[in-house]
Amino acid sequence: MSAPSICVFDSAEVAVRELAGELSELIRSRAAEGRMAVLGLATGATPLPLYQELSRLHHQGLSFANVISFNLDEYLGLARDHAESYWTFMHRNLFDHIDMPESNIHLPSGVLPEAAIPAHCTEYEARIRDAGGLDFQLLGIGGTGHIGFNEPGSPRDSRTRRVLLDEMTRCDAAPAFGGVCQVPTQAITMGCGTILEARRIVLLAWGERKAAIVNTALNGPLTEQVSASFLQEHPNTSFYLDHGAASALESVPSPCGSTVTLPRRACVPG
Ligand code: PGA
Repeated sequence: MSAPSICVFDSAEVAVRELAGELSELIRSRAAEGRMAVLGLATGATPLPLYQELSRLHHQGLSFANVISFNLDEYLGLARDHAESYWTFMHRNLFDHIDMPESNIHLPSGVLPEAAIPAHCTEYEARIRDAGGLDFQLLGIGGTGHIGFNEPGSPRDSRTRRVLLDEMTRCDAAPAFGGVCQVPTQAITMGCGTILEARRIVLLAWGERKAAIVNTALNGPLTEQVSASFLQEHPNTSFYLDHGAASALESVPSPCGSTVTLPRRACVPG
């Protein structure tokens, strides 16, 4: 088992500069080979500084013309043009500011007749496969320890599917919707198995609010109750944290699998 590498940065801005550099390198090297870069993208407050940095890099000349993206999830019941749909979020915060062809953008649909959902999910998986699989998957982590909307009880080998949202997740989203009653109860999400097939994964977390769940994900048992814990077994995952999000880490698994005390302000390479 290869443990995730844990990088602790002075701020989210410093962390995303490093990550944006890695992504630019991937995109440019693929472009030089005439190939596409396949990115799995995430929503929420956490990736916003990264999307700002990627937009800035585009204005400095980085082209996204050879990027194909697949978002992790979408609320069920929200049309694309709903203010809180993830389609709207991604366009407002990234796609409207870069040159990715619209036809390369993929999010699960939030508006589907009940009977069409299973086939839609199967097709989403097929599109990822047909694109060559995910080169890179960006993740945040929810209060429940979810990655995507893989709430407690999500199996390690789960695939893209319809899920019920946990009450904690709906409460976290309540301010944006003007009350928990307005937050959808269901979503379509990539599964844990879908995410874990990405060749490279980076999970971002900022602030003390995330400290306990980050520690549980990294140092707790592998369990369906915390889907981020499955990342412990992924061969090429990094956790990019600020000091707040790292503040509950008692110990980190070292690259060779033994346990070491977290060196504060350190980057433990994977
Ligand atoms: P956040 O959400 O980025 O808004 O904290 C993360 C998540 O729920 O995955």
